[in-house]
Amino acid sequence: MTHPESPDQTAMTATSLIRNRYSVRAFSSAPVPEDTIREVVDIARLAPSNSNTQPWHLAIVMGEARERLEGRVFEFMRNGGKPHPTFPPGGAGLTGPYKDRQYDCAFRYYDTMGIARSDMEGRQRLLERNWKFFGAPHAAFLSMPKSMHRANAIDLGIFLQSLMLLFSERGIATCPQGALAAFPDLVREVVTIPEDNAIMCGLSFGYEAEGEQINTVRMPREPLGKILSFAT
Ligand SMILES: Cc1cc2nc3c(=O)[nH]c(=O)nc-3n(C[C@H](O)[C@H](O)[C@H](O)COP(=O)(O)O)c2cc1C
Repeated sequence: MTHPESPDQTAMTATSLIRNRYSVRAFSSAPVPEDTIREVVDIARLAPSNSNTQPWHLAIVMGEARERLEGRVFEFMRNGGKPHPTFPPGGAGLTGPYKDRQYDCAFRYYDTMGIARSDMEGRQRLLERNWKFFGAPHAAFLSMPKSMHRANAIDLGIFLQSLMLLFSERGIATCPQGALAAFPDLVREVVTIPEDNAIMCGLSFGYEAEGEQINTVRMPREPLGKILSFAT
């Protein structure tokens, strides 16, 4: 707690961490020390979960394993392999304002990167950067038992946000990626994931690369009045 008459402007609070976090899609190759990664996950595991079931598992690839995985995914895609996530992806089957926001999000990226909306090849190349982990030296895969249901996914979401804020607090950038659930069998070739689990999403992380146009995108949010109702 800082003294009210001399607030510490550099103090990181939940408010400042949440306000300042954004998804990073260009990373430097500098690795995050393994002790720091362990510390972050050790704290994130204190996240609450329904009946304290703690359904999350985190598998991290880095170094040679990360290179091998990237290579395998691109080899698979070159041979015509298609995404085959276990859980239906979050972007599938959206309608109404959710579909509109999905398009808006994508178009903001294309515009920032100077990619015309009609440039399908450019869009595909941007999409494929997901599986290069946007250049991050580390990629984490979040999984939970495949027998579990939507309500249990809340627990993984809380765990994911905890990881992102703890990394932010340490100056480490992140990008949560549903796209990283697309090739679960290839991931399992390089890292151990409990047999009964399915991958929900991934999280690329590392240090933000400087001066990269892609990292200038900031996504808007709906105003408070649209998402909050009170009854008194
Ligand atoms: C569960 C989840 C999955 C996501 N999947 C992807 C993805 O596959 N690729 C990507 O570039 N961004 C992905 N994102 C990032 C979102 O696009 C981003 O969080 C959103 O546009 C808000 O922007 P911000 O994180 O910069 O605030 C995902 C985010 C979440 C929470």
